[in-house]
Order: sequence, then C-alpha cells, then structure tokens
Amino acid sequence: QARKLFSHNIILIGFMGAGKSTVSDYLSSMFAMKIAEMDQMIAEREEMSIPDIFATYGESYFRAKETELLIELQSQKNVIISCGGGAALREENVAEMKKNGRVVLLTASPKTVYERVKDSEDRPILQGNNNVEYIAELMEKRREKYEAAADIVIQTDNKAVLQICEELISKL
Ligand code: S3P
Repeated sequence: QARKLFSHNIILIGFMGAGKSTVSDYLSSMFAMKIAEMDQMIAEREEMSIPDIFATYGESYFRAKETELLIELQSQKNVIISCGGGAALREENVAEMKKNGRVVLLTASPKTVYERVKDSEDRPILQGNNNVEYIAELMEKRREKYEAAADIVIQTDNKAVLQICEELISKL
C-alpha cells in the first residue's frame, strides 16, 4: 500500500494549458496519489463533452457543477485535484478548495499556453479565439483571481514536468 506522503490534498489551478493535467499525471505516478480530473469527471457524469455541456446548458451550469464537485471532493484524502481553468475564478470555489488542501497555481506565458492549446478542440472558452492575443487578454483578466486563490505559485515555461513537480513538492 502506498504511504501517504502529504498531509493535504494538492489542488492544481491555472489557465488552460498551464500544465495541470500533465503535472497531476506525473505526481500521481510519483506518489501513488489518486487524481480527480474535474473536467473529465463532470463530462463523464453528464455523459457529454465539455463543449457540449457549454453549448447545451451554458457556462453557468458548468460552473455550478464545478462547485458541487469541489464540495464533494472534500471527503477524499491523498488526492490530486486537477481543476478546470475557470474553477478558481469564483470565490465560493476557492473557499471550498482551501478547506480541501494546498492550492497550487501553475502559470505559463500566453505564448506557451498557445503552443499547448492551439490544436485543442475541447476548450469552448477559446472557440473562435484561439490565438496568443486573446489568451494574453483573458489571462490578464483572470490573473488577480488566480493569484489570490493560490498558496503556491509555480511558473512552468521551459521546464520539464519533473522539474515542475520537484519544485512543487519542495514548496508544499
Ligand atoms: C475552462 C477551462 C477548461 C474547462 C472549461 C472552461 C476555463 O479546463 O474547465 O473549458 O474557463 O478556463 P482546462 O483548464 O483543463 O482546459
């Protein structure tokens, strides 16, 4: 049985393409922690892709599902919660995150994000606007909220996932 290494869950937040899924996969295999990938869980429960949820029920419906899930996940231990890029924008969600573990913000430059998401078709927020300028603008709008939510901030540009994870662990 895997030893429980951290006394808190790890909650990864940050913009689309900041590396939340990649880092959570890596951490999970390093430390035998479970992953709660919020987007994936919501899509499975709704039996719909994220773009379809947005198109059918609208963004606020999706946001409400995120809040419900964050509350539900408080019963779990030894878990990495990989949040959708918008989850930390609501104060009520941040409050739920704080009850649940250490909130780690992953950051990347607009250019890096663009390189990571340019071929993605499952980001409704970027649909029709998937370019560096728009990413930079939206990132700037969100920056203050992300930073306010974070206990730890890790910049991910030009770093290998191992380095990011080591940095993260050393700051926990
Ligand atoms: C969103 C980010 C997405 C997903 C949804 C909305 C956002 O998650 O939750 O498309 O508002 O930034 P990723 O950050 O995993 O792409």
